[in-house]
Amino acid sequence: MYANSREVNSVQSGPHDKLAELVLRHRDHPFRKPYAPWNSEAFEAAMQAWGGKLPLLLDSGCGVGWSSLQLARQYPDHFVIGVDQSEDRLQRGKPGEMPENLLFVRADVVDFWRLLVEAKVTLARHYILYPNPWPKIGHLARRWHGHPVFPAVPTLGGVLECRSNWRVYVEELAQALQLLCGKTGTVEEWVVSGEPLTAFERKYRDSGQSLYRLVVDLEAA
Ligand SMILES: C[S@@+](CC[C@H](N)C(=O)[O-])C[C@H]1O[C@@H](n2cnc3c(N)ncnc32)[C@H](O)[C@@H]1O
Repeated sequence: MYANSREVNSVQSGPHDKLAELVLRHRDHPFRKPYAPWNSEAFEAAMQAWGGKLPLLLDSGCGVGWSSLQLARQYPDHFVIGVDQSEDRLQRGKPGEMPENLLFVRADVVDFWRLLVEAKVTLARHYILYPNPWPKIGHLARRWHGHPVFPAVPTLGGVLECRSNWRVYVEELAQALQLLCGKTGTVEEWVVSGEPLTAFERKYRDSGQSLYRLVVDLEAA
């Protein structure tokens, strides 16, 4: 059955009490894991395809890429990179024609984000849509804001938008960004009107779940 996705079930009802400690530790001890060659190659190819002229919009963890397609049509004056580590998801059929300002890239964002920072590339817009919530209390370090790469995200700048079916996730993300760069975003319930932006958004909406989003302008972070 399709529209039977269950709401996130967690003993955590608010931001994790170890969030600040973890985020600040990652800020103070930069993540130095070497880049995997396939990510460096994907990054170089992406930078060539972009060419540096148009403002850059990154759709991180784009999955099957519906959001990247819609965003490329919505922002024709931006260059959109939809990045996901799953070749299988990226390869799945896409509705309509492929816009010229869109590129799909298979890469691990743990390397891709750091490579962007190292190359001093900044974003105009950054979407992190329905990331895996990792709702168990012991899973904090698997959520993006609990990952050692996270300090790269505010450095990338731009208007960051994260959507989730778990309010705690976007609240934690907002707190982590506030700690790292002092930017206060807006956390709100997100009511989908019209076409859902992603496959997960459609599934959650059709299952009657509440959705949440954080929007924060990191421009000067
Ligand atoms: C829950 S899905 C959401 C997909 C899409 N944004 C949507 O809303 O339909 C999370 C996506 O993040 C991708 N992902 C997870 N970790 C990643 C990483 N380190 N680098 C790139 N993609 C990653 C997964 O492959 C998956 O497609």
